[in-house]
Amino acid sequence: MCVPPENGCPPAEPAPDPGLPRHVAIIMDGNGRWAKRRRLPRLRGHEAGAESVIAAVRACGDLGIACLTLYAFSVENWSRPRAEIAGLMALIRRFLREREAELHERRIRLRVIGRMCDLPADVRRALDRVMAETAEYPDRQLVLALSYGGRAEIADAARRIGEAVRAGTLDPRDIDEAAVAARLYAPDVPDPDLMIRTSGELRLSNFLLWQLSYAELFFSEVLWPDFRERHLVEAVEDYRRRQRRFGEVR
Ligand code: IPE
Ligand code: IPE
Ligand code: MG
Repeated sequence: MCVPPENGCPPAEPAPDPGLPRHVAIIMDGNGRWAKRRRLPRLRGHEAGAESVIAAVRACGDLGIACLTLYAFSVENWSRPRAEIAGLMALIRRFLREREAELHERRIRLRVIGRMCDLPADVRRALDRVMAETAEYPDRQLVLALSYGGRAEIADAARRIGEAVRAGTLDPRDIDEAAVAARLYAPDVPDPDLMIRTSGELRLSNFLLWQLSYAELFFSEVLWPDFRERHLVEAVEDYRRRQRRFGEVR
């Protein structure tokens, strides 16, 4: 039953929409091809892609999606040309400089998953600072996958399990899925409900291999720099039409 609030009470929070993904993860792909089609250097594609990052953050906020994970730089991307890597690192610096205020306005907690130790020291420091300053925002999260690899994440979890066994704090008989999940980079973040990859590529490229086990997958032909709110809405509407069965008979 819906009871109207008494005078002076704040309006009740709208009930959460059960058809809405709580967590959307995106493989932001196609920046290079976007630039190539325009005869521009690849870095211009990455710059344009940064605008789509902001659009996606805003769109998730407006739609009420609590968590957005963006694959921004993979462990494999370290093998790209040095100038391209430097340009991508500069874009992370710029994002933090120019968008920090908006993260606060929207009360979004910034997180990073990946081997942060690989990043340039100043980028790491800037990320650490913004993560610390936004850590108390409870409802919305932006997770950046940086120097991220799904296999690396599982290997890092396995190493931590080995250390716990050696220290005598973990009995090998207690190693189960929960023990592995608890040692992933952001163990409290729920698994993605919906994974979107742009640019028409149909692969995971080492993204969230553990967490995507039961995610719904959506592949878009749109190149990442062209990705806007309507494309996210299209993916969410498609997600709403799916029947998630988790191996059961429904
Ligand atoms: C995605 O765009 C951005 C990163 C991997 C950092 P790409 O740079 O992979 O673009 P394409 O795939 O070459 O078009
Ligand atoms: C995946 O895209 C990594 C990111 C989006 C950061 P890539 O463009 O690097 O992946 P592949 O090479 O097509 O598999
Ligand atoms: Mg690519």
